[in-house]
Amino acid sequence: MRTFGVNLGPRSYPVHVGAGILDQLGTLALEAGLRGGRVAVVTDSNVGPLYLRRVTETLDGSKFDPIAIEFAAGEASKSMAVLESIYDRLIAAGIERSGAIVALGGGVVGDLAGFAAATYLRGVALVQVPTTMVAQVDSALGGKTGVNHRAAKNLIGAFYEPRMVLADVATLSTLGQREYREGLAEVIKYGAIMDEPFLGELERGLDAIEARDTQQLEAIVERSLRHKAFVVERDEHESGLRRILNFGHTIGHALEAGFGYGRYLHGEAVAVGMVAAARLSETYAGLSAAQSERLRALIAAMGLPVELPPGWAGEDFIRAIKLDKKRLGDKVEFVLLDRLGHALTHRIDAEEIIEQLSSQSAA
Ligand SMILES: NC(=O)c1ccc[n+]([C@@H]2O[C@H](COP(=O)([O-])OP(=O)(O)OC[C@H]3O[C@@H](n4cnc5c(N)ncnc54)[C@H](O)[C@@H]3O)[C@@H](O)[C@H]2O)c1
Ligand SMILES: [Zn+2]
Repeated sequence: MRTFGVNLGPRSYPVHVGAGILDQLGTLALEAGLRGGRVAVVTDSNVGPLYLRRVTETLDGSKFDPIAIEFAAGEASKSMAVLESIYDRLIAAGIERSGAIVALGGGVVGDLAGFAAATYLRGVALVQVPTTMVAQVDSALGGKTGVNHRAAKNLIGAFYEPRMVLADVATLSTLGQREYREGLAEVIKYGAIMDEPFLGELERGLDAIEARDTQQLEAIVERSLRHKAFVVERDEHESGLRRILNFGHTIGHALEAGFGYGRYLHGEAVAVGMVAAARLSETYAGLSAAQSERLRALIAAMGLPVELPPGWAGEDFIRAIKLDKKRLGDKVEFVLLDRLGHALTHRIDAEEIIEQLSSQSAA
């Protein structure tokens, strides 16, 4: 098991990454300062049948009295309606201010249970137990929680840090192939924006990654979370540095919006977005063509898409680029690379982005 701390003053917390460590959750939660007693384990209908029993057993064995709250798996559950039903269950179970919520699952569970923890009784302790690649390398750490509104994703939420993160990489063995791979897009992202040697390790580790070798996964998840922690420690509320984590995301989000949230998984759209952003980086930030190609080749080797799809420049795509939340006037703040392992932001006119992307996809 690998352990490190996220340093946020009084809100600091430990992060544990390992294979088979799910059964240590109870002990580690006590060590992290949780009080024992009534806790709610929130999970979804896919993860519950796989891992809930082990989680309630370890909690039972260490002074906790767990109840389970399970909701239907899927992004549609990240809603006010499901949130309300979680509050109902917390109240019915008598979870008190000294109680806690354990989020057992992917990013949907983490965001939803995290927001419930942030708001129920004005805040109860939260433990993140991520079980998808996306959640283990990204969403479990950093405190972003929330639900979707019919107007847009993630519109209602709060920054609320967990008291502990426990990532058991062995749980990734049951993840579907696409869900596994999409999480690797965020892993490559950390290498691209802040750790060039990491890209080399991913290139050399391709076979082990494909085989979901737990030692390899432990190393990858830990390194990714350390990078996320580094950024969050310096800019928790995304007023500056944290924006570099959006590398590949402006175009990625536009693809998700342009093709509906069914065709692309988030990480797949980000994969395409990173390749496009690397090409824009050649024009605007001096990234070499060879480095840009190296990034594209690694993303492709992970089994992720790299090309903008035919018909990408539809109305919804263009509207999404223009409405990007990082927009300033007519310009969009874009995360670019001046070299692999180093990101910067650059303001580009929205029309110009579309033009540049068109010449890329025509070439
Ligand atoms: N808070 C943040 O910083 C942050 C960052 C990135 C993404 N997100 C959010 O996370 C969500 C996406 O997360 P996700 O990709 O983990 O999706 P998800 O939680 O929907 O999980 C994907 C699927 O895998 C299933 N699953 C989870 N763990 C499994 C396991 N170990 N074995 C088998 N199946 C398993 C789930 O039931 C679900 O069907 C989005 O809502 C996104 O907005 C938040
Ligand atoms: Zn992302």
